[in-house]
Amino acid sequence: MAKDNSKNNNIILIGFMGSGKTSIGLKLSYKLQLAVEDTDKIIEARENTSISEIFAAKGEGYFRKLELEVLYEIKNSSGRKIYSLGGGTPVQLQNQSIICKCGTVIYLRAKPETIYDRLKGDTTRPLLQCDDPLAKIRDLISKRSPAYERCADLIVDVDELEQSEIVDAIVNYINGENCNEDTCN
Ligand code: S3P
Repeated sequence: MAKDNSKNNNIILIGFMGSGKTSIGLKLSYKLQLAVEDTDKIIEARENTSISEIFAAKGEGYFRKLELEVLYEIKNSSGRKIYSLGGGTPVQLQNQSIICKCGTVIYLRAKPETIYDRLKGDTTRPLLQCDDPLAKIRDLISKRSPAYERCADLIVDVDELEQSEIVDAIVNYINGENCNEDTCN
């Protein structure tokens, strides 16, 4: 498959909270020998506080502005890194075209029940601190899925896969993408 030259060379991981972006990002980083960054961590370091605190003190809208700033920086960067984006980043329409230009976008798709099992008891996701987190997860995933799918170059259904299989699926895709008729076959 020919490379899309309108995209940066980064690998961008998207998906709902708890879909495995951070852990798969680390494993991919090791396998591909590329640096990995997490946009939530970038924001926390800049604001010198946690995502929960940012939501509580300044509101979700403020957090989304910070997310957009980081996205622009990734789009305007050179070099090649792996980035894990926050689960809500692809939702805003204006973010979607920027994400597509940031690099090859991999959507880690997980079922609501998988997310719920992984995140029950988690206190670091402000959007899930509610009476019925499973219902909230179902609602958010059904609203967000079209946005994730629009951004994705590759969708990996992660529910039944080992982490190593997810990493292999991504690496195979990336290698195929870098392959063209002159250099492959
Ligand atoms: C959010 C996901 C979180 C974090 C914030 C909002 C969301 O990131 O950005 O709590 O809107 O889904 P993770 O997907 O890394 O948990």
